Amino acid sequence: MTGNNQTLISKFLLLGLPILSEYHFLFYALFLAMYLTTILGNLLIIALVRLDSHLHTPMYLFLSNLSFSDLCFSSVTIPKLLQNMQSQVPSISYVGCLTQLYFFMVFGDMESFLLVVMAYDRYVAICFPLHYTSIMSTKFCTSLVLLLWMLTTSNALMHTLLMARLSFCEKNVILRFFCDISALLKLSCSDTFVNELMIFIMGGIIIIIPFLLIVMSYVRIFFSILKVPSTQGIHKVFSTCGSHLSVVSLFYGTIIGLYLCPSSNNSTVKESAMAMMYTVVTPMLNPFIYSLRNRDMKRALIRVICSKKISL
Ligand SMILES: *[C@@H]1O[C@H](CO)[C@@H](O)[C@H](O)[C@H]1NC(C)=O
Repeated sequence: MTGNNQTLISKFLLLGLPILSEYHFLFYALFLAMYLTTILGNLLIIALVRLDSHLHTPMYLFLSNLSFSDLCFSSVTIPKLLQNMQSQVPSISYVGCLTQLYFFMVFGDMESFLLVVMAYDRYVAICFPLHYTSIMSTKFCTSLVLLLWMLTTSNALMHTLLMARLSFCEKNVILRFFCDISALLKLSCSDTFVNELMIFIMGGIIIIIPFLLIVMSYVRIFFSILKVPSTQGIHKVFSTCGSHLSVVSLFYGTIIGLYLCPSSNNSTVKESAMAMMYTVVTPMLNPFIYSLRNRDMKRALIRVICSKKISL
């Protein structure tokens, strides 16, 4: 096998989390708790939006789509991470790795698009309240969501096929806790120019443009509120938009930092911590920030629980 660079690798080692053995149990419990919180929080939102007809508005339907993507997005990485923490050798098969890569991109991109759609929805609601129902019609929302699913699945398929073309020779250590596209490219012994070009182009379309659109929507919301100042209005906008913006900056900030401006002096631990932010922390926080603090959601929860009691 020596010197034969066609020796194909059948599995990769995921060594992204160098956790000392004395803290192993602590981190295992922490990740498990975060995962369960993500699943329960997001399932609760999907169920509430489904069950309560007052929540059948674009904002909550988008939110329920976001919860669905959050749920899937964290299920792509965390169960494998938990399984690997229990095994001696944290490995993943080649096919498993490409599958993880595909679904990671589908749900990660969907998350990015949905955050824009939700910011746009708030922008229309606040800046054009009289035209809201005609702009955000059911037909428009359904087609938009369908279009986004088509975009994310085909983009992920393209990147996965481009990755499947590459050969991997000797290096098989991924310094992440999941199969990450940029970490995989570094291991390949083929020419990765086309892959890097596509990451750069699609990354711009999927990450930078949505991020700018979100910032623009919130800036316009901000100015439209300032035009008609009322303490209540300003308070409301700061409390909702402030928390939205913090999630948005956590999500985009870490992704942009990791993929679009990678720095060579980042340590593995620092990069893994950044990756944790958008793969584990934002999907967990989204349900709380976008909805469970929200009055309509609390009312819906009470309605759903009470109507169940009555029907029993
Ligand atoms: C996603 O959004 C669409 C369009 O608004 C809606 O019809 C659909 O029920 C939503 N899906 C989920 C899982 O909430």
